[in-house]
Amino acid sequence: MPAMGTMVFANPTGPPPAAETKEPEMDVSEAIRTRRSTREFTAQTISRAVVTQILDEARWAPSWANAQDWHVFAVTGERLGAYKTMMADMIDAGADPDPDVRFPQRGDWPEYIQERMTYRRPSPGAPAAPPQRPGLARLYGAQWMLLFAVDEGLVTEYACFDTGLLVQSVCLAAHSRDLGTCIMAMPVRHAAALHELVPEAAGRRFVIAVALGHPDTDSPLNRVERERAQLADIATFLE
Ligand SMILES: Cc1cc2nc3c(=O)[nH]c(=O)nc-3n(C[C@H](O)[C@H](O)[C@H](O)COP(=O)(O)O)c2cc1C
Repeated sequence: MPAMGTMVFANPTGPPPAAETKEPEMDVSEAIRTRRSTREFTAQTISRAVVTQILDEARWAPSWANAQDWHVFAVTGERLGAYKTMMADMIDAGADPDPDVRFPQRGDWPEYIQERMTYRRPSPGAPAAPPQRPGLARLYGAQWMLLFAVDEGLVTEYACFDTGLLVQSVCLAAHSRDLGTCIMAMPVRHAAALHELVPEAAGRRFVIAVALGHPDTDSPLNRVERERAQLADIATFLE
């Protein structure tokens, strides 16, 4: 039994194939604190049954008026290989990004927000580095790419808000099974080419991708120190 005030992830569709992943039993607080971006995956595969369980759990995420205004394309195998080729070609050609949902220009953001952008900092005090291009083209070796898309007819801001809730739920459901995820904007930056690869997404805008696989726990990329702003810097109590 979980302790009072904690919750255990439900497993509504039965256990995964033996020994493929551990039973999800992490408490929510631990899951939120220990989830981290995985930027190197092992070659170990994840079955469609396990991905199904993760998505089946995550679909209980909240959304505006319960609209559930999202769609996930779970990509692996040949189609994932085609994505990797496409992305490598785009990078080599120096193609301009054409995302369906506008990317923020970091340099335009307020200075105090820019100061928080520390990801992939190899050691305390070292300068932050952008994601490496080879890592991007191979999706850090992930076994699955989950592509999140929203209907073109929706108000994009709200649909993206809802999709973000679904995305974090996916990441936590995966993490509770000791699987790794990396939320990634980069895979959707060449939207026209991605739509050619995924014609099933016609009429939808690609919002974000999540790389999913078994984390390579030996990789330094997965041991990068994580930082957060102090609570006082992001929250104000009005009493
Ligand atoms: C909307 C969004 C887009 C992101 N895009 C990328 C990306 O393209 N490549 C990448 O390596 N990480 C990406 N990340 C991961 C963030 O860099 C990461 O969540 C952040 O640095 C905090 O680190 P943590 O997830 O390990 O706690 C993205 C995260 C979000 C929420």
